[in-house]
Amino acid sequence: MLKVTKAVFPVAGLGTRFLPATKASPKEMLPIVDKPLIQYAVEEAIAAGITEMIFVTGRSKRAIEDHFDKSYEIEAELEARNKQKLLDLVRSIKPANVDCFYVRQAEALGLGHAVMCAEKLVGGQPFAVILADDLLYSPKPVMRQLVDTFNHYHSSIVGVESIARENSASYGIVDGREWEEDVFKLSGIVEKPAPEVAPSNLGVVGRYVLMPTIFNHLRALKPGAGGELQLTDALQSLLTEEQVLAYRYMGTRFDCGSKIGYLKATVEFALRHPEVKDEFEAYLQNHLPLALAAAA
Ligand code: G1P
Repeated sequence: MLKVTKAVFPVAGLGTRFLPATKASPKEMLPIVDKPLIQYAVEEAIAAGITEMIFVTGRSKRAIEDHFDKSYEIEAELEARNKQKLLDLVRSIKPANVDCFYVRQAEALGLGHAVMCAEKLVGGQPFAVILADDLLYSPKPVMRQLVDTFNHYHSSIVGVESIARENSASYGIVDGREWEEDVFKLSGIVEKPAPEVAPSNLGVVGRYVLMPTIFNHLRALKPGAGGELQLTDALQSLLTEEQVLAYRYMGTRFDCGSKIGYLKATVEFALRHPEVKDEFEAYLQNHLPLALAAAA
């Protein structure tokens, strides 16, 4: 049986939309309340039964490797101060059964190129791809939903959501027919089309489960939208040879690659965070009207 045990995290992007915060540290290390985006992504993979995390990194991304590595100084310090809870928290970032691997993407040539950089580490197995910028909240973690769907159909699957048509130029857009509730059989996929030519209002979110045959199509890629080697174009080529599905996930997406999405995620995750939620909710209720008035 084909089992998804590996996830690829393309994390080589420059994060220019968050400058100056991302000048010297990776955008994937930006925290939502107290946890970096990349840790949410890894936890989602773990919840889907994935145990091998493959990070496609670039320059200035050392912090990601350090985050998932043992920190002797912090652990010794917390032990000496008898801070058991914090010690457990720090140690739980990378559970013992999870392994992390790193490969460098020397040039930022696009998402398709980033995934291709992971080929040797992925080997000939189906694998997940998670874009940490897309923070997805759902009681049943979204990658778990995708892997369950994969286990049923055994073909490549892209996560999608219904989007406003005028925003189609921000997404890969799929064309296909609904096969079963929320599962679509693809007949086409196009990267960032203008609204007038978008084949549907189903936009790709940063979650994929891919058959290893995708690598044949990634290797043959030519520059596409934005002059980049696009994963979307490799999927378009793959679906001419084998079945590719789209799955409309259950949950809420926060586009943390944009400032506004990042702010919304911060507010909503803070309202769910056991340590701060009561005080934060009271703050919003009592002070928000004043803050809004002051900013007006
Ligand atoms: C990438 C993909 C796009 C997808 C999007 C989801 O684009 O190329 O197909 O819809 O992620 O976040 P990016 O947002 O990196 O430009």
